[in-house]
Amino acid sequence: TLAMAVALGLSATAQAEMLIGFSQIGSESGWRTSETASIKAEAERRGIDLKFSDAQQKQENQIKAVRSFIAQGVDGILLAPVVETGWDQVLKEAKGAGIPVVLIDRGVDADESLYLTKVASDFVQEGALAAAWLAAETNGVCDVVELQGTVGSSAANDRKEGFESVIGNFPSLSIIRSQSGNFTRSGGKEVMESFLKAENGGKSICAVYAHNDDMALGAVQAIKEAGLKPGEDILVVSIDAVPDIFKAMADGDTNATIELNPHLGGPAFDAIKTAKSGREVPKWIKANGPLYLPDTAAEEYKKRSS
Ligand code: AHR
Repeated sequence: TLAMAVALGLSATAQAEMLIGFSQIGSESGWRTSETASIKAEAERRGIDLKFSDAQQKQENQIKAVRSFIAQGVDGILLAPVVETGWDQVLKEAKGAGIPVVLIDRGVDADESLYLTKVASDFVQEGALAAAWLAAETNGVCDVVELQGTVGSSAANDRKEGFESVIGNFPSLSIIRSQSGNFTRSGGKEVMESFLKAENGGKSICAVYAHNDDMALGAVQAIKEAGLKPGEDILVVSIDAVPDIFKAMADGDTNATIELNPHLGGPAFDAIKTAKSGREVPKWIKANGPLYLPDTAAEEYKKRSS
């Protein structure tokens, strides 16, 4: 009945399902912003009290946040680690307090007994997929410039590794320049400008491999300003599948993107619940997405921007 539903609703708000701390990296990209929004919405939908902390790209802020979550006695912690190394101590502290930590989206270089699980895509596979597409598109002959993500992040390290593992099979496909653009649009533009300058205006560059869409979009601007046509004179392949990249693909400015699912809150909250009830949780809950091409870009843009 309506009365019962109202009563249930009231009791749900009066007593939260769980108290969860979420240490987010920041808001460097469109993907990150939608991931944050998705996780907050999922927490609200489930009646979870989510303590959100934005680390502004700094690991020390994340360590502080995790310690404060431990002090508040949360039921679980979501940690999106900005870089891979340097987590052992704080993860041990959480474990010592009996608080499960779920790594969200990025991985760490630490013993897996120190966290409950990782809810993330396989970045190595994403890089490999981007390279396989590029190899097929160029018949294995291409001078590539690479826009790397945040230095030391699993997303940048693994996307580089996956890409290189595939191009290693093609002697005439190689990375001629590579630098970090910090996963931002402005970083991508700035670094691409320096690549174009260093390569005599860019005529010899066959493709840009950007570790995320935002950097690709920055590169597109730089290529246009250099008087070249992105998507034709210089191919552009990137990762994330944010709405803006579909618009760019539909306009012919970029050529391929690989989807990174931003809806990681559901599986992360489920994992904490499962662990609380004493059941096993797998160490890696994978969330890989497909490669999209210009032929469906207009339609995808419509779906994702409405
Ligand atoms: O860790 C995932 C990466 O971080 C996304 O690809 C990028 O857009 C974000 O900033």
